[in-house]
Amino acid sequence: MIRINPHYKKLQASYLFSDIAARISDFSQKNPDTEIIRLGIGDATRALPAACIAAMHEAVDEMGQDASFRGYGPEQGYAFLREKIAEHDFAARGAQIAADEIFVSDGAKCDTGNFQEILATETRVAVPDPVYPVYVDTNVMAGRTGAFQDGRFENIVYMPCTRENDYLPDLPDTDVDLIYLCFPNNPTGTATTKQTLSKWVDFARQNKALILYDAAYEAFIRDETLPRSIYEIPGAREVAVEFRSFSKTAGFTGTRCAYTVVPKECRAFDKNGSPEMLHPLWNRRHSTKFNGVAYPVQRAAEAVYSEQGQKQVKAIIDDYMKNADRICREMDALGYSYAGGKHSPYIWVDARTDSWNFFNALLEKTGVVCTPGAGFGPCGSRYIRLSAFNSYDNVDRAMQRIRKALG
Ligand code: MLT
Repeated sequence: MIRINPHYKKLQASYLFSDIAARISDFSQKNPDTEIIRLGIGDATRALPAACIAAMHEAVDEMGQDASFRGYGPEQGYAFLREKIAEHDFAARGAQIAADEIFVSDGAKCDTGNFQEILATETRVAVPDPVYPVYVDTNVMAGRTGAFQDGRFENIVYMPCTRENDYLPDLPDTDVDLIYLCFPNNPTGTATTKQTLSKWVDFARQNKALILYDAAYEAFIRDETLPRSIYEIPGAREVAVEFRSFSKTAGFTGTRCAYTVVPKECRAFDKNGSPEMLHPLWNRRHSTKFNGVAYPVQRAAEAVYSEQGQKQVKAIIDDYMKNADRICREMDALGYSYAGGKHSPYIWVDARTDSWNFFNALLEKTGVVCTPGAGFGPCGSRYIRLSAFNSYDNVDRAMQRIRKALG
């Protein structure tokens, strides 16, 4: 008799952003005259940089000629892209990452979700609360947790991020093996310093733990002294895997290109406590289950690193950050306390009431979509997340509507 994976039955019925999309669709059907402004899911709204489009067109033309056509590429990504990444994203910031430590993929969501597969089922997992739900749900699917109780899964160590600790997780005071960190953070928008990140690297080294570091939002960091990569911290190569994405950096949410860094020294341990390197294991997993990102898409990603590409990406990010600033100013004017918005496209607002009630009321009264904080964990139950991914005009109109409704 065919049986289901019973751990799937522990999950919430639907994924947070699918749930929200269904609610918006329902609202739209009932209120066809209300213009909806989406400050919910962090999805790019600006066109791809012109340099990426030109490179993609050229690559498509290559695919149309037998002489330049390409079939299967390397599963790990083409050398032309991996080398550019190593040079611009790491060497230029003093972090030593070799091109063959970079695995190009179709998304940081998939990679952060899949990486746990190469780790033991008994792995003790620590996540911040609030947290990007993918980290938790994929560990639930893998059978590492107990039941869902009061908004949390048994057997997961939650690290509360509240106003009291400036929304930065404290080091766990219990044994953990795998720690998920995300900076600038989704959903709170908080950034971290080299000093704070060093504490995590030291903790992982002392406790033989591994850090999965999600840096999908690093392009939004405005202060050059803040770390963009965990490999800017000495000792991180042994204890950290990093996830990056072109989605938020260059508008690739619909185009799909990201990468994961697994340094050659990065290790877990076998049952006898001997170190096992993760690079060959991830390589094995990646080449077995993934066939590489489309050639034109990798050429488009390569163009992000050209002189024109860099200028165009910076202009797009600057525009999103103007939106973030507009949201922050409105929250200040309305007297709402919030985090984020300075090095991140997300603003984490203390709604002072149940987050789903706030979400529903905001949608009803203003047509503005936010993300209810409860979807990221119990510490988010009174918060909502506003996203700066939209046009300035839409953000400005959303803020005017919010002022009218809540001011
Ligand atoms: C978000 O809104 O949190 C992100 O768009 C989710 C994602 O990147 O998958």
